[in-house]
Amino acid sequence: MEENVSGQGKISFEPPRGMRDFYPADMAWRSRVFDAFRAAGEAAGFEQYDACVVENYELLARKAGEEVGEQLYHFYDKSERHIALRAEMTPTLARMVAQRQKERSMPLKWTTIAQCFRYERMTKDRKREHYQWNLDIIGEDGILAEVEVLSAACDALSRMGLSDGDYKVRVSSRKFLGELLERSGIAPDRHAQVFLALDKRGKMPDQEIAAMLREGGLSESEIAATFAIMETKDFSASPELTELFRLAEVAGIADRLVFDIGVIRGLSYYTGIVFECFDTKGEFRAIFGGGRYDTLLTTIGGEPTSAVGLGFGDVVVTELLKARLGEDAASEPRGIAVGFMTEGERDAALRLATALRAKGSSVDLSLRPQKPKKFFSHAEKTRAAKAVFLGPDDLAAGKARMKDMLSRTEEEISL
Ligand code: HAM
Repeated sequence: MEENVSGQGKISFEPPRGMRDFYPADMAWRSRVFDAFRAAGEAAGFEQYDACVVENYELLARKAGEEVGEQLYHFYDKSERHIALRAEMTPTLARMVAQRQKERSMPLKWTTIAQCFRYERMTKDRKREHYQWNLDIIGEDGILAEVEVLSAACDALSRMGLSDGDYKVRVSSRKFLGELLERSGIAPDRHAQVFLALDKRGKMPDQEIAAMLREGGLSESEIAATFAIMETKDFSASPELTELFRLAEVAGIADRLVFDIGVIRGLSYYTGIVFECFDTKGEFRAIFGGGRYDTLLTTIGGEPTSAVGLGFGDVVVTELLKARLGEDAASEPRGIAVGFMTEGERDAALRLATALRAKGSSVDLSLRPQKPKKFFSHAEKTRAAKAVFLGPDDLAAGKARMKDMLSRTEEEISL
């Protein structure tokens, strides 16, 4: 790529690699997805919050092994402060809660749509920047919190236009998996490493995972036991999973949940229930993921506080919606186009547009006189639902015709 140095050379028209531009058609999708996020959060009684995308590096820096830590965009500002772009919202949320912990009455139910940055290997459904809907309940350790978060996520998917059969949420519990590991003689202090290795299953061959476990100090028989545990299908020994599935039945989302011991999650702060949502055909990476993280607040120096939540990105779900509903499904015809033939009708057109807007319509007023053909073809391209074109005759008659662009029918309106 040619550099642009003081006017020499050409500037690339591409955005920086992994970053997205949102043209109007892309914005139509983004609005559809964001509207569903906001409506689902609102319907479930969550309050909105926000923070700056620039965060203290120290808060986001991680112990080795976690992918997000290695993917941080970070830099020093002019005062040598170590700064990073957030890769996820959860540490910032924990910081904000810890800062005002004494003033708040628990539980908090907070939601936001946060832009996040990760230096990832790029694929169709992984970018270096994405928007992530976050939904978290802080200060509640009962399993109903998990069910509420999951219900809201399912509600958002319905509002976007997906059917219940389009996706499945795979649910497991790190606590349950931890108990199974402990029963095989693998002590809790080694679980974090085991989780990180097991999270790679399906992404790398089992031999490499075995090698990671060996490095983590597991004996050959412990490694064999670990792989055997990963075949577990019965969760009746876990009271929390049993109760979660029972409450999901009551909430009407049980048909979309499945138990899968293989769901671990790549972030080390999860302590209990973990879940990840995938499209049923298995074409895309995770739609959303989350779980319980009861120790994160103490890790950053706050009071012990239980918490559960999820992150739901815009990239995968938009790809999925396009695949299931069609590329253009988000740009539904909307609004009224108003045009005019000669300067003589300009005032009348502006008056009509103003009156229609006052009644609540969205009106796209042409800015110059046009030939009817050009006006209607532009109205079609911009997906106007209706169109009114004023000519000298209309003005003389004091009325015009409003055309429905889909049904091609016309209705008379008075000027
Ligand atoms: P996560 O699994 O890392 O969890 O990300 C959650 C979701 O964000 C993913 O399922 C995906 O939809 C989206 N996502 C993540 N990275 C990318 C990317 N590079 N490109 C496109 N989409 C992406 C978390 O971030 C946790 N903080 C979620 C959470 C909130 N847990 C509790 N509360």
